[in-house]
Amino acid sequence: MTIPVRRFDAVIVGGGGAGLRAALQLSESGLKTAVLSKVFPTRSHTVAAQGGISASLGNVQEDRWEWHMFDTVKGSDWLGDQDAIEFMCRKAPEAVIELEHFGMPFDRLENGKIYQRPFGGHTQNEGEAPVQRACAAADRTGHAMLHTLYQRNVRANTQFFIEWMALDLIRDEDGDVVGVTALEMETGEVYNFHAKGVLFATGGAGRIYAASTNAFINTGDGLGMSVRAGIPLEDMEFWQFHPTGVAGAGVLITEGVRGEGGILLNANGERFMERYAPNLKDLAPRDFVARSMEQEVLEGRGCGPNKDHVLLKLDHLGPDIIKQRLPGIREIAIKFAGVDPIKEPIPVIPTCHYMMGGIPTNYRGEVVIPKGDNPEARVNGFYAAGECACASVHGANRLGTNSLLDLVVFGKSAGDSMVEFIKNEMPTWKPLPANAGQISLDRIARLDNQTGGEEVADVRAAMQRTVQARAAVFRNSENLALGVKEIQEVAERVKRTQIKDKSKVFNTARVEALELENLIEVAVATLISADARKESRGAHAHADYQERDDEVWMKHTLYYGEDRRLTYKPVHTKPLSVEYIAPKVRTF
Ligand code: FUM
Repeated sequence: MTIPVRRFDAVIVGGGGAGLRAALQLSESGLKTAVLSKVFPTRSHTVAAQGGISASLGNVQEDRWEWHMFDTVKGSDWLGDQDAIEFMCRKAPEAVIELEHFGMPFDRLENGKIYQRPFGGHTQNEGEAPVQRACAAADRTGHAMLHTLYQRNVRANTQFFIEWMALDLIRDEDGDVVGVTALEMETGEVYNFHAKGVLFATGGAGRIYAASTNAFINTGDGLGMSVRAGIPLEDMEFWQFHPTGVAGAGVLITEGVRGEGGILLNANGERFMERYAPNLKDLAPRDFVARSMEQEVLEGRGCGPNKDHVLLKLDHLGPDIIKQRLPGIREIAIKFAGVDPIKEPIPVIPTCHYMMGGIPTNYRGEVVIPKGDNPEARVNGFYAAGECACASVHGANRLGTNSLLDLVVFGKSAGDSMVEFIKNEMPTWKPLPANAGQISLDRIARLDNQTGGEEVADVRAAMQRTVQARAAVFRNSENLALGVKEIQEVAERVKRTQIKDKSKVFNTARVEALELENLIEVAVATLISADARKESRGAHAHADYQERDDEVWMKHTLYYGEDRRLTYKPVHTKPLSVEYIAPKVRTF
């Protein structure tokens, strides 16, 4: 069967913050640019980001990008690459001012400057005191950013393919990326997008967990496509649990609540974070707070009839602050927890929120993989940015508000790298291989022909139960080993899923089955990578190896899907212009 071809200079997969920021760079440079998105771009998961975007603007107190860099390195538990971290923190003020000039409706201080609130792990002078670094648009910062970037792209003539799902990456015989195969959901037709450069900005994969703050669309599509195309995944053992998901519902309650002065209480009414983090208290980094909360529950001080959550109290902030700064939170608490936070605390538990690992890139957004003696050889024509990428700025634990920053800084940087590559190295398109798109056709044909298999929803639920139970906040050798065995069994079941609806037009059952094939790649990578790491670092808290082991384990994991093997590569210890920040014990 011949697959129809669409041709662009650049194809971006994903219409969230990173994809839109990269697309803007490409379109404004005159390149013909397509953005493929499963949903209307302003419904991408970036819309759910609440509390803010970090930048050392110093609008409230003195701040410096070097302090932001220190906090990010310490937050990452020294797994972050210091060149990429320096790049991001230096660029942050410029990136935020650019958004402001694009028309992003930030909240304002009395003097007209952008409002900034405190957030977990952001400090003045290397831990001395919390600093107000998170630039906020109430508790809907991602929403404001996404609309701003979308409108800017419309102005720049970016071409949007909405409700299109990318299925597979196309690499030629040299291993270069020359396009992507995609499904038009409306018709069920498959197309090859032929491009000089492809950027993945496909977001996270939090739906591998049963309880997640992530949207249903966060199915790790970019990671699944990469694995199938022979690209390894980096640091997949590191998953962030956001301390405050609504208990029982998983919906995010922003850390901005604690930034505004909200506090966590156990069943005794005790502000327990004072014991765990005497300096930063409720505003310690997320891995620290999440573990402390779990500890309270494990030791019997959880709240509610099942003693399985803690409480987030914010009524003392008063109705005006809650209505002005946290209106979305109030709405979420009323709808999903049945409490009005003006009067009552919100029941919360740590909930899967963010994937620190992903497709390996450098700070230029180029995908880099080991080749011969070079641990980081560029894959020509392939770029990634945002949550699906691992630059690696977040290392073993991301600081809140560094994700929105990551999207715009690395979206722009990847866009610049693509413009340079396309204009300087790609006078014309490399040919598509003869079998381009065949792997996608085979995947769809299997679903069309499969009878007597298992329901997608059942297998997905089995995957989510396994990941939730085996790769949780606290991990141990026995559990992880069981997890590796169980998830590989689930992976076999994914190969035999069936869909009863074989129609083509808007067949969401088919889309969900294809998404599950991506999710399972991420889930297997997670368990295998986590089982191998014999230390505790950031979000990987291992009961049998409770210390961080910099001698052996200060290195990035690379997972290869074809034979489920791991290799490792060094952490970048040379910043771009400043001194290396040497490892220390993390106390808060
Ligand atoms: O808590 C929040 O508002 C989430 C922010 C983030 O993940 O960066």
